[in-house]
Amino acid sequence: MTQNVLVVDFGAQYAQLIARHVREAHVYSEIVQSTISADEVRAKAPAAIILSGGPKSVYEVPAPSLDPEIYELGIPVLGICYGAQLMAQQLGGEVANTGIGEYGRTTMTRQGTSVLMDEWPQSVTCWMSHGDAISSAPSGFVVTGSSPEGPVAVMEDVARRLHAVQFHPEVAHTERGQDLLANFLHHVAEIPPTWTNTSIIEDQVAAIRAQVGTEKVLCALSGGVDSAVAAALVTKAVGQQLTCVFVDTGLMRRDEGEQIEETFTRQFGVELIHVKAQDRFFEALAGVTDPEAKRKIIGELFIREFETVARELGKGGDGPRFLVQGTLYPDVIESGSGHAANIKSHHNVGGLPEDLSFDLVEPLRNLFKDEVRHVGEELGLPAEIVWRQPFPGPGLGVRIVGEVTRERAEILRNADYVVVDEIKKAGLYRELWQSFAVLPAVRTVGVMGDGRTYAYPIIIRAVTSDDAMTADWARLPYDVIEKIANRLIREVDGVNRVALDVTSKPPGTIEWE
Ligand code: XMP
Repeated sequence: MTQNVLVVDFGAQYAQLIARHVREAHVYSEIVQSTISADEVRAKAPAAIILSGGPKSVYEVPAPSLDPEIYELGIPVLGICYGAQLMAQQLGGEVANTGIGEYGRTTMTRQGTSVLMDEWPQSVTCWMSHGDAISSAPSGFVVTGSSPEGPVAVMEDVARRLHAVQFHPEVAHTERGQDLLANFLHHVAEIPPTWTNTSIIEDQVAAIRAQVGTEKVLCALSGGVDSAVAAALVTKAVGQQLTCVFVDTGLMRRDEGEQIEETFTRQFGVELIHVKAQDRFFEALAGVTDPEAKRKIIGELFIREFETVARELGKGGDGPRFLVQGTLYPDVIESGSGHAANIKSHHNVGGLPEDLSFDLVEPLRNLFKDEVRHVGEELGLPAEIVWRQPFPGPGLGVRIVGEVTRERAEILRNADYVVVDEIKKAGLYRELWQSFAVLPAVRTVGVMGDGRTYAYPIIIRAVTSDDAMTADWARLPYDVIEKIANRLIREVDGVNRVALDVTSKPPGTIEWE
């Protein structure tokens, strides 16, 4: 039986990161709300519990708390940041509001022996983000690490298997963070590292079967990695009940429709319906320039197109009740359904119309991109699909600033092809998170041959990132930029200038709209 770890969410953006690092240690984990009771925990019989950080102070009213009986269940607990402070406070220690917090890189100094930090150097760099600090550990706990403003940076009660760290082991800036989590899971909680991507697949296949039963399922293929992997998972689970639909919005990359048809029909033997909806999309987008309005229109029309297909399929019998979407975890939190602010309404989450008549199947909802790629490889999808850079649901629509017209979409599609082609030739495609072209809503004057031109500039956008939540602009070699620029102006009608976007995220987002 799979041993389960509960990650209790106190409102941190990092709860999913914790879950992800637990999975990297080959242990299964599940995120639960902080209102979970000791009885509910007992029923889930987890092998360990991790308390996440959170934005509140334990002194705020209301601040999320934890049923204190959970500490008495004999289950190993690791508290992180807010979770550590809460544990200290609930078990009789003290948390002080010193007024001097620690934010960012901090040096943590060890003392004594610690099962969490076995064989670590005396000092390590940790990433901190706290205003309050534990000032005295509860009785039974030994302090095994401290930082300049955190006298109790690590405290452990080995007998009761209760451990707490003020820093964030789940972020990349904490040296040895993964090692700390692994030590807790494997050595304190004694969970063997046996959980793998195959387990993600098995679990999801079982979950999909349980959710859809014998009903029919529609799958929205976009050509991207996410929808392809979601489709492959659903094919494995309920292949006979599945129909894939590819809606050509007119905002796809060059040759995308043909590629998708080729791959899914040939390799998967899946029933695929190719909807050529370009005209309807351009008509709906005519005159619209507001980015959010464009996203909503594209998202809504996209769903309507599916509904039409579903109605057709349902004629004379039962139509599909479920719709598969390749929603990933970053899409979920960025759309504000978690604790984060609403930055953009991603069309596969926030932009859904309220009268949606499908139930959603979202088998990738808890995964980050790299995990999805590994699942895709495991499922036997071709590398050209698995390693494809992410492409947004609204397609080129969020890269065309201003009005989206057939002509402007064609300019951008041709420009996008050139950018990606040169990036691939330079061997940079996999290294970059995304590399693409953007079409702004201005035209500039140029001179070509002996004539004056008045045409669009193209902006090259290339970023590196691990999960799209933060990104850095890619330092492309000058000769690659030069080749792209020359080709854009030579090969793409309507373009007479090229610029490079050197904005990281934050403050910019990856896409322009
Ligand atoms: P931003 O622009 O918010 O993008 O930094 C983060 C990542 O999400 C992709 N993206 C989308 N994906 N539907 C999607 O499926 C959308 O509406 C959407 N908008 C942005 C973007 O390409 C980047 O990888």
